[in-house]
Amino acid sequence: MTLECAKQKLQQYGQEHLLKYFDTLSETQKEALLQQIEETDFSVLNKIGSNEEESSTGTITPIRALRLQEIHANEDKYRETGLSAIRSGKVGAVLLAGGMGTRLGSDNPKGMYDIGVTKPMYIFERLICNLMDVVRESGEFIHLFVMTSDKNHTATTTFFNEQNFFGYKEDYIHFFKQDMAPAATYDGKIFLEEPYKLATSPNGNGGWFSSLKNAGLLDLIHENGIEWLNVFAVDNVLQRIADPCFIGATITENRSVGAKVVCKNHPDEKVGVMCLKDNHPSIVEYYELTPELRDAVDENGEPAYNFGVILNYLFKESELEDICENTLPLHIVEKKIPYIDDTGTLIKPEEPNGYKFETLILDMIQMMDTCLPFEVERDKEFAPIKNKTGIDSVESARALLTKNGVTL
Ligand code: UTP
Repeated sequence: MTLECAKQKLQQYGQEHLLKYFDTLSETQKEALLQQIEETDFSVLNKIGSNEEESSTGTITPIRALRLQEIHANEDKYRETGLSAIRSGKVGAVLLAGGMGTRLGSDNPKGMYDIGVTKPMYIFERLICNLMDVVRESGEFIHLFVMTSDKNHTATTTFFNEQNFFGYKEDYIHFFKQDMAPAATYDGKIFLEEPYKLATSPNGNGGWFSSLKNAGLLDLIHENGIEWLNVFAVDNVLQRIADPCFIGATITENRSVGAKVVCKNHPDEKVGVMCLKDNHPSIVEYYELTPELRDAVDENGEPAYNFGVILNYLFKESELEDICENTLPLHIVEKKIPYIDDTGTLIKPEEPNGYKFETLILDMIQMMDTCLPFEVERDKEFAPIKNKTGIDSVESARALLTKNGVTL
C-alpha cells in the first residue's frame, strides 16, 4: 500500500496518529507499517459505543442435558459408534492455543507451562498423553490442528519440535495461526505497540474456524474425510480429547454439535452455563447470569442452570462451513493493552486501558442450533489452569491429576 492510500484509509477511520513516527522509520519498518494498515480491518472500531450486545439477549429457559446415568446406560453403544467414526478417519481435533494466558503471567505460550513436580510435565505434553489414550484404544492416529497466534507461533512450533511432538506422529499435527484484531483506546484510537506496529491481539476463540480456513487447512480436512472436529482449550489438563463416548452420543442423537458440561460446584462458579435462548441451545456467560437465573430451580428442586461448559465441543465440519459464511457477532472486551506513549516509551498498564475485539465460540453453539449438552464427571475431566494459585490454578490442577493417578 502506498503512503497516500494509507493516509486515506486512516483518515476514513480517524486513525491518522498511527503515522506519527513514520518519518523516523527505516525503509523496512515503513513497509511493514503500510502493509499492516492495508491488512487491518478498521471497521471493528465502529463497534465501540454501539448497543448490539444488549440486543442479542433473548428469553432464557433451562435445557435438558444427557446426564451421567443415561450415558452409562448407553455407554457401549455410544463408544462403539465413536470408535468406528475415529477408525474411519472421520474425527479430527483442534487445540485452541492462540490465547495470551495473561492470568498465568508467563511470557511463554500457556501450553509450555511446566506443571510437573518430580519431573517436567508440560501442559501440551499432558494433552497429547490424553489424546494418545484414544489413539491406543482405536488403533488410529487423529489429525490434531493446533491454533497459535502471531504472538506465540514460533515459540509453540519450536517447542513441539524440540520435544519430538511428545511422541505423537508429526504428520498428524498441523499448526495454524489465528487472525488478529486491532486493540484501541476507549475513544477508538488504535494503540501503537512499536513506532512501526499497530497493537493487535488474537481475535478470540471464535476465530478458530475462519482462521483454519484462511490457513488453507480445509483441503486437508476434506481430503482425509474428516467430518467431526473436537475443539478444546489448552488449559484443561484432565479433559478427554476425541472421547469415543462423546462422539458416539452426538452422532447417535443426531446432533451437529455436542458440548461437554459439568455440574457447577457452586452457584457463583465462573463458567458459562448451557440454556435455551429463545428456544435455541445457547450459553449464558457467568457475568450475564442474573440472580434470578442463578437461583432458579427445576421441577425436582435442582438448580435449573447448572450445566457449566468446559470448552470442549464436537462440531460437524460441514455445518461450520455454512456458519462461517454468516459472520459471528463481534464482542468488545476491556483489557490491559501494552502501548508506546508520546515519548516512544513502552507502557505495560496494570489496569485495563482499552478495548480488544473478539468473536466467541459460544456464538457458534447458538448458530448451530442443535447442541447436545453431554455431562462429564468434573473430578475426572475438569482441571483448568487459569491462575498460578487458588481457584483454577496450577495447584488445583496438580491435585486433581494426582487424584486421577497421574504421576507428576
Ligand atoms: P481464555 O479465555 O481463558 O483466555 O481462553 P487465555 O488467553 O487462555 O487466558 P487469559 O484470559 O489471557 O488469562 C480459553 C481458550 O481459548 C483459547 C485459549 O488459548 C484457551 O485455550 N483462545 C482464547 C484462543 O485460542 N484465542 C483467543 O483469541 C482467545
